[in-house]
Amino acid sequence: MLRNSLRTLCVLLSLATLVPALENGLARTPPMGWLAWERFRCNTDCKNDPDNCISDRLFRTMTDIVVAEGYAAVGYEYINVDDCWLEKERDLNGQLVPDRERFPYGMKSLSDYVHSKGLKFGIYEDYGNYTCAGYPGILGYLEIDAATFASWDVDYVKLDGCYSHPVDMDRGYPEFGFHLNQTGKHMIYSCSWPVYQIYAGMQPNYTAIAEHCNLWRNFDDIQDSWASVESIIDYYGNNQDVIVPNAGPGHWNDPDMLIIGNFGLSYEQSKTQMAIWAILAAPLLMSVDLRTIRPEYKAILQNKKIIAVDQDPLGIQGRRIYKHKGIEIWARPITPVYQNYYSYAIAFVNRRTDGTPSDVSVTLKELGLQYPGGYRVEDLYEDVDYGILSPQTKIKVKVNPSGVVILRCNLNIDDGFRYSPYSPLNQVFKVRQNSFK
Ligand SMILES: *[C@@H]1O[C@H](CO)[C@@H](O)[C@H](O)[C@H]1NC(C)=O
Ligand SMILES: *[C@@H]1O[C@H](CO)[C@@H](O)[C@H](O)[C@H]1NC(C)=O
Ligand SMILES: *[C@@H]1O[C@H](CO)[C@@H](O)[C@H](O)[C@H]1NC(C)=O
Repeated sequence: MLRNSLRTLCVLLSLATLVPALENGLARTPPMGWLAWERFRCNTDCKNDPDNCISDRLFRTMTDIVVAEGYAAVGYEYINVDDCWLEKERDLNGQLVPDRERFPYGMKSLSDYVHSKGLKFGIYEDYGNYTCAGYPGILGYLEIDAATFASWDVDYVKLDGCYSHPVDMDRGYPEFGFHLNQTGKHMIYSCSWPVYQIYAGMQPNYTAIAEHCNLWRNFDDIQDSWASVESIIDYYGNNQDVIVPNAGPGHWNDPDMLIIGNFGLSYEQSKTQMAIWAILAAPLLMSVDLRTIRPEYKAILQNKKIIAVDQDPLGIQGRRIYKHKGIEIWARPITPVYQNYYSYAIAFVNRRTDGTPSDVSVTLKELGLQYPGGYRVEDLYEDVDYGILSPQTKIKVKVNPSGVVILRCNLNIDDGFRYSPYSPLNQVFKVRQNSFK
């Protein structure tokens, strides 16, 4: 069924060229953490809604939960403030001032608190006259603001692009990056440079962007709905030839936050977001109320096997390799690597809505997995170990409507079971094949 439609992953890999990139030593794998925006927005009403307003208290609470509830243990590390943390005016020296009522102890104190828990601290600004919500932007104050962030021991800066001219960004984003670098304090640099240029009808120069940013947004802000997640999945699939080659250790495409555990996604859809974000080598920035998240959604966010795919050290972004009648197959080359062969994470996504699971039946070879020694295949959500499969073995998965099945296919190169023409592997394959008919 799939043979003729699939492009082999060899073609895929030849597109992964080496790009010169920002070398500040950071984000060797996609950053992981918690970011306020999607869930808490610009809620500044601490009088009536003290538990949910953008405030010192909210970030300290989330810091505590990230550590206490096991998120830090699986890799979530950054606690990131987004828009609406500022006073509307700079001080007399031109310095940014956090809102005096909502951040009464200042940003250095909050940063120290986050660090005291073993986590890292991120902040938000905008390459424009204003932030998107109308607070002071950095235009005219680039050097001062970089120095301010360094003095607050900030580890991560997200720089948005409202109230600026997209044509200025080719100069402006590198300029602020230069000032960040000059502070001597290592800070992850998250850019919105390409997305604003795309909105303005420009073709972003991804070579330059990867040279100056650790990550960057390519597409719309995520919203709390499956329609929004689908539009992002489609954008990254439809534009993958341009987007995928830019990713690698230190420099990542950012499809925006994880909205798992909020109001808009079902359980199946949440699993799909997590799986596809891992295939995309995406930053994993949860934007959810960790005080009230239900256990099944927490389990998705803490799925170590899927996180390991996302954080794979090769840093090769995956691609959509098949799309037909609502069924998509996505593949990402991962470790271990042996000779000219990669291991793969494979995600089967069902975009159909006709109420019953869809069967997908395919051999590993049809997916481009050709290693003669076979693959150890494991389901990353269900506790199913398929054992060792040859490239010829047909696998059959049932994918729920708007759901996903994600497999890890490791090259079968474990010590003591290395392929050789004399090994009994072929018999193993025969047995396994029969069990998959
Ligand atoms: C920012 O403000 C300055 C001073 O008012 C103005 O000259 C400039 O055009 C503004 N830039 C943008 C992108 O609006
Ligand atoms: C500044 O840039 C240089 C050259 O790319 C790099 O080696 C260094 O780590 C950077 N320092 C910081 C603090 O980002
Ligand atoms: C894109 O950026 C790179 C690196 O900064 C530069 O060498 C190249 O000329 C730029 N390409 C275009 C089309 O401007």
